Amino acid sequence: MTTPPGSTGPNGNADRLWLRTDLPVEARVEALLAEMTLAEKVGQTHQSANIDPVADAELIRGGGIGSSLLASGATAGNERDAGIRVSTIDAVQQIAVEESRLGIPLLFARDVIHGHRTVFPIPLGLAAAWDEDLVFRTARLAAAEASLDGVAWTFAPMLDISEEPRWGRVAESLGEAPVLAGRLGAAMVRGFQGDDLGEGDGRGAGSISACAKHFVGYGLVAGGRDYETVQVGENTLRNLHLRPFRAAVEAGCATVMAAFTDVDGVPMHAHRHLLREVLKGEWGFDGVVVADWDGIGQLVNQGVATDLRDAAGQAIAAGVDIDMVSGAYAAHLAELVESGEVPLDLVDDAARRIIRLKIRQGLFERPYVGAATAEPAPGPEARALAREAAAESFVLLTNNSTLPLAPNPGRVLLTGPFVDEGEALFGTWTLDGRGEDVASPAAAIRDRLQDNAIVDNGRFSDRTLHLVRQADVTVALVGEHPSRSGEANSITGIGLPAGQLEVLRAIAAIGKPLVVIVFTGRPLDLGEVLDLADAVLIAWHPGVEAGPALIETLFGDRAPGGRLPMTFPRSVGHLPSSTAARPTGRPIAAADDPVTGRYLDALVWPRFPFGWGLTYTTFSYGPIRLSSNEMPVNGGSIEVSVDVTNSGTRPGREVVQLYLRDLVADVTRPLLELADWVSLELDPGTIGTAAFRITPAQLSYYDRTMTHRIDPGEAVVTVGPDASSGASARITVTQ
Ligand code: BGC
Repeated sequence: MTTPPGSTGPNGNADRLWLRTDLPVEARVEALLAEMTLAEKVGQTHQSANIDPVADAELIRGGGIGSSLLASGATAGNERDAGIRVSTIDAVQQIAVEESRLGIPLLFARDVIHGHRTVFPIPLGLAAAWDEDLVFRTARLAAAEASLDGVAWTFAPMLDISEEPRWGRVAESLGEAPVLAGRLGAAMVRGFQGDDLGEGDGRGAGSISACAKHFVGYGLVAGGRDYETVQVGENTLRNLHLRPFRAAVEAGCATVMAAFTDVDGVPMHAHRHLLREVLKGEWGFDGVVVADWDGIGQLVNQGVATDLRDAAGQAIAAGVDIDMVSGAYAAHLAELVESGEVPLDLVDDAARRIIRLKIRQGLFERPYVGAATAEPAPGPEARALAREAAAESFVLLTNNSTLPLAPNPGRVLLTGPFVDEGEALFGTWTLDGRGEDVASPAAAIRDRLQDNAIVDNGRFSDRTLHLVRQADVTVALVGEHPSRSGEANSITGIGLPAGQLEVLRAIAAIGKPLVVIVFTGRPLDLGEVLDLADAVLIAWHPGVEAGPALIETLFGDRAPGGRLPMTFPRSVGHLPSSTAARPTGRPIAAADDPVTGRYLDALVWPRFPFGWGLTYTTFSYGPIRLSSNEMPVNGGSIEVSVDVTNSGTRPGREVVQLYLRDLVADVTRPLLELADWVSLELDPGTIGTAAFRITPAQLSYYDRTMTHRIDPGEAVVTVGPDASSGASARITVTQ
């Protein structure tokens, strides 16, 4: 492989200032931009799905392509691709760097969503751990593995506020609460990009650029049907859906992806106000906006563009910098500029941002992957992290003391469709994990109990009932296959998949202890399962260490640490059911209030509130203490603390949650909004203090005129173990 120009140091690059690492990034960007022709600028905006160094040699040599998405058929449960070929990437880079006029390397992207070769829990599961450091470490490891494979840019984190369990993509999200999704999303950005690791202007080796997606409102697709239209006002966008994106941008997220949907009639790929005015203008985002897959082309399907040319003009005006695979920019942008329909400034803006991204990513210094040195399979450290992440993500919904199992519980039967699975335990969007890497529940229980382990691979056949009779405890591993969640996988019924409940009924009828483990990419309506089982644990799709994490948790070597990042509704008929609820003119104070928004035929409250999760010990909360009941709107703050006692017999982690409610505002504000949380690790009988600092900024919001403001007035502070309980106090924000 030839050494790239620039790698010999700044002095050799007198005429190519953009290669000089001793110059500020912006000087390098402008130096390169000044040299580029219109065609070369447009070339940077063009992203192809896959790329071939032979078939596409002319395109690459001519500077006609800026990036490639190492595409796969991972969506909608299609077959996965064969993986990344490092030799292809290097062959492409060699043409771009050595043979194109300006030597601009391509940016290779791939969906590294929850791990690369080492697969971690799905993002919704990671969110259930409520642990920024854990999320940071998983993203860091994923970036290290992916960059060794030539990936320089990932399309994560997914920050769509998710309150609609029919929508399959909630599995990819960090839940329903803007503060949780925002903080975890920012941690993921820092993990991928490693910007805070002191590598200077350019991203260090082992770091990849992140992408906050899908901007914005995608979580509100009508009926939970993927790609549907979205009806939402700007106020709700600003006070809820835009917030995690803002947090990601503030964490330095390199790129943002436009959503497939429209927002109140305007498709996001043509949404000048939200992309150019809010994101790039108001927020000062200087990174790249990338289209979603064929998102520009789909403006034609959405009925706002007559053809690809029209679509290209609208998207560039809106502020979409990179055209993912539609080809609209490559085909039409130069001509649109030449005809005067699109100002050159718009193309300059896009090209400038893309060049800036490439320089920040360190691509000019490190265009080649070189010999792959990646671990062929997850090593011990990666496995330890994957196991920790899986166990931390598990949420114990109910438990009548059956868990943890006794060290010698007799004969334990593991049954159900996930007992001996590989890839099915990964979850959606895993392109590079391999089924053979998975440590399965079957292997883990055999390891632990040898002859006392009964493993039923019969996938719930008649034989299962015979095995239940032989066992002292049955652990049923049920739930949805990953192909029932993720992109384009929406459902109308959020119960268990067909047939599973019937088998659980038959097992429960035998009358022996029954533990139900639920693998899922979304909140489910578990209704009757909760009555049939002695304990129910949500395991999400836990990744490569699924088996050991699960068995260690069942036996109490680890305690379940997760808390729900989405409300579990009572039924589909109850949707939407989330902490985003705002007060109405007729509050539902009690189930039998006659003239309220209650249901005639059911309780209105969620089955499990946001933040819910048990563990193997119990905690009791003391009274709420405030340093003051008043805080001045300018610069004030209040210290809030609560003593939490581990009142059980085992060590455990409690996630203490702080919720706020602004009682009077210019617009309706949530009845209860997560504002902060802390984790306490407590030994039995010990007391810990959960301490929070409330500031007026936490009560700030956008008003009717979209002005950001903080009102003097009263608010309610609640500290508790979940969104349905806790101790409250009133505070006043003073002038
Ligand atoms: C998805 C994106 C993804 C992209 C590239 C699209 O279908 O909506 O989330 O990043 O494909 O694979």
